[in-house]
Amino acid sequence: MSIEEAKKRAAYQAVDTYVKPGVRLGMGTGSTAAYVLERVTALWNAGHLEGLLVVPTSLGTEWACRQASLPVTTLDDPRIQGRLDVTLDGADVIAPQLSLIKGGGGALLTEKIVARASDQFVVVADASKLQPHLGTGFPLPLEVLPQAQALVLRLLREMGAQAHIRQGGGKAGPVITDSGHILIDVVFPAPIDPVAMERELDSIPGVLESGLFVRLAHAAVVGHPGGRVEVLRFDSPASFH
Ligand code: A5P
Repeated sequence: MSIEEAKKRAAYQAVDTYVKPGVRLGMGTGSTAAYVLERVTALWNAGHLEGLLVVPTSLGTEWACRQASLPVTTLDDPRIQGRLDVTLDGADVIAPQLSLIKGGGGALLTEKIVARASDQFVVVADASKLQPHLGTGFPLPLEVLPQAQALVLRLLREMGAQAHIRQGGGKAGPVITDSGHILIDVVFPAPIDPVAMERELDSIPGVLESGLFVRLAHAAVVGHPGGRVEVLRFDSPASFH
């Protein structure tokens, strides 16, 4: 089974487990979340999800949900009032204790708001996302106010990190996020302590959010190439490489 099939299987299993009639659902962003959306759409069209409300985590996901005629709304909907039952979203890296890097798709700010609003935040991924450490491999994205970029870059480099403003594809200049900010991608010289690093990054003026998602995920539904789908929790002794 390919990695693509593994993540689709994990996404379908996560939807079948967590998405029930009347659920207030946070809908993630990325290629794995696209399979979540596909499965939710099929159940919705078959009439199995009466009362569903969907809050998307990015403009791209919002448009995809509208295209699928899903009942899209926002966190300030009076039926929601800042509280969702569950959010299903992908991740770029899953480390022990479900510490995550997210934001490869540039949606980390809304993703973190929606995740925090959720009684259950469930990550869906294929097994290639499981890593023993954070910080030295996949770059950690920060969403940053444009006027703070020089300060943020200087402070990150003084910490010994490599930091670069993410550049657009199909657009000259930087990527501008759905909320009008820039992204700075950071690679550290050694594995980071996610809890301490999140606190340190949050203390830099102009850093709106980091892509470190720590103590937020309730579970991770992980598809393995052999066909097995593993459910990890905070203290799972899992298959981290
Ligand atoms: C979007 O900003 C990200 O946080 C995605 O959730 C993450 O990049 C996972 O994307 P894939 O499912 O496409 O790997």
